[in-house]
Formats: sequence, C-alpha cells, structure tokens
Amino acid sequence: MADLRTTFMGLQLRNPIIVASGPLTADIDSLKKCEEAGAGAVVLKSIFEQQIEYVAGKDSEKASEFVGYSDFVDAYKTLSKDYYINQYLELLAEAKQKLSIPVISSINCISIRTWEEFARRFEKVGADAIELNYYPLASNSSVPGEKVDKEAIAFARTARRAIGVPVALKIGFEYSSISSLLRSFEKEKIDGMVLFNHFFRPDIDIDKQDVCGGQAVSNPTEYLESLRWIALMSGELKKADLAAATGVHNGETVIKMLLAGAKAVEINSVLMKNGLGAIATIICQIEKWMADKGYKAVSEFQGKLAQERMHDGEYWERTQFMRTLRRS
Ligand SMILES: Cc1cc2nc3c(=O)[nH]c(=O)nc-3n(C[C@H](O)[C@H](O)[C@H](O)COP(=O)(O)O)c2cc1C
Repeated sequence: MADLRTTFMGLQLRNPIIVASGPLTADIDSLKKCEEAGAGAVVLKSIFEQQIEYVAGKDSEKASEFVGYSDFVDAYKTLSKDYYINQYLELLAEAKQKLSIPVISSINCISIRTWEEFARRFEKVGADAIELNYYPLASNSSVPGEKVDKEAIAFARTARRAIGVPVALKIGFEYSSISSLLRSFEKEKIDGMVLFNHFFRPDIDIDKQDVCGGQAVSNPTEYLESLRWIALMSGELKKADLAAATGVHNGETVIKMLLAGAKAVEINSVLMKNGLGAIATIICQIEKWMADKGYKAVSEFQGKLAQERMHDGEYWERTQFMRTLRRS
C-alpha cells in the first residue's frame, strides 16, 4: 500500500489532495462528503470581507428608512456584520467537530486591516490554518509595481502578527517578480503559498454586446504556470511550503506537481465537473504510478524535478519556443 502522506504548513495530511475553497466546501454536508470521498484536507468557502460590508451596509440602509437615529443605524450595521461572521463561525465549529481531516478557513481580503478581526475569531473556533485569498488587481496605472509589491509584503506581515495558526497566502501570478515576492513572504514567516488562484474574469457576450462572467471552472491544461513556479521556487524556499492550484484535474497532474516540489494540491473544478468520486480516481492514479515506478512513499519523489535539484534546472526558466539541444 503506497504511503501518500504529506505535510503542508505543518499540517499532517493523509494524502496531498485538498478540496479548494469553493462551492463544495460551503456547507457541512458537502464538507463531510469531501472527507468521505478521501480528501486530505478542506479549505472552507471564503468569507468575503467585501460582501459582508456590502450586505451590512444594505441592511443598515433599510434600517435607516425606518429609524432616523444614526447611532442605531451604526449599531444595526455591526449586528448585521456579526450575523454573517457568526454563520461562518458556526460552519467552522461544526466542521471541526465532525471532520477528522484538517479544516482550513479562508478569508477573501480586500484591505490590509479589517479581516484581522475575522481571522482571530476563526482561530479561537479551532481553524487548523487560515488561507488568505489576496489579489488586488493592479488596474490603477498611477500605482507603480513597487507599491503593489510593498503592500503585499505589508499584508503578509500583518497576517503573521495577527494569526497564531499556520497562514497560507493564495495569490495570483501577475507580479513583476513573483520569485522575490515569495521569498519576502517567507521572510515574513508565512507558512504556505498557494500557486495560483483562478480568479473571476469578465468576458463579453457578443449577442447582447454586454459584459458577462467568464468561464468559472478551469481546463485541465491550465496547470502549467503553477507547475513552472513550483519547480522554480520549491527548492529555494527553505521554510514555506507550496501547494498547487488551478488546472489540477487528474492524478498525472498531481504527480507532476509533487515532482516539482508541491507539498499538496488544491482542487475544485474537476470535482465540480465530475463529482467528489474524482478524488478516489486521482488517488488510484497516483498509487498505480507509484507502484509502476517502485515508490513506496510520496516523500521519495517529492521535489525530484525542482529546479535546484536538476543539473539542467534552467529548463524551467525557458519561455520561448526555440529549438534547444536537449529537449524539443
Ligand atoms: C464557483 C467558484 C467559487 C470559488 N470560490 C472561491 C472562494 O470563495 N475562495 C477562494 O479562495 N477561491 C475560490 N475559488 C477558486 C478555487 O478555490 C480554485 O482555486 C480554483 O477554482 C482553481 O482550482 P481548479 O482549477 O481546481 O478549479 C472558486 C472557484 C470557483 C469556480
């Protein structure tokens, strides 16, 4: 029997498959099914700072139609905010009570500070770790890249100070120097980085000639950017762990990520498309490959193809389709 155990940010996982934050981790029944289906850990659906602020704002607007006292309206806003946070805390507490695999809570952060309060409360309820979903789109052309990076580092510092349990940052790759940023996150003692999130992207409906939501789920070929950066950085980061996300749809891709040095993978789209049974299929594929190659434990091949461990590791830096001496 292959030993699929791995650790991610100090959490012991029975296998590297983490169900990513999303619709499948939004309620207790589905979370229990993830565990039964064989997941190594789950990341709860993110609590959205922006949404809470918005809904609480709307609720208090309604309240102000009936009551003219601004103190009351402010208090109502706080109550409304608390209501949504409490709902999330109840889900987390129940998940901790009913599941035996690690439960990671998740916050979608828009500002540097306001989410700290949520994180502390999640920690008290027993979250095994907290994943911070951080992605300020650099759309303001008057803000230089350096400032965007500095803010990301300041964000990591705040997160580390505020949170006692392991912290993962789930980020995108559109930074001027992702390698330098990951090193800075490590210096700030961030325990894990999830490379990369698959964000909401607007599209255009040409019939209506209007904007609409782009395809939400990923394709099975979308893993290559994560693979490259995991291979480039897994050997260089000495303390922080990397998990792969986006486009991991089958056992073959999980094996690639592990060879590149990932400690775990986060999956969502394949489960949304094919159901939670996909976890067992992926695990079987990994076990079969390990048996074929004579590996008994994941640790025997994890990071084998990380840049630092290869004699021609610069291959991972290649970006152009020119002919090379070694590989096509
Ligand atoms: C419908 C939907 C909802 C999602 N909700 C969240 C969320 O609340 N928080 C988060 O960090 N990521 C969220 N994600 C991103 C997923 O966690 C995951 O990172 C992404 O889908 C890429 O992985 P995949 O290729 O396996 O789908 C969502 C994705 C989808 C498609």
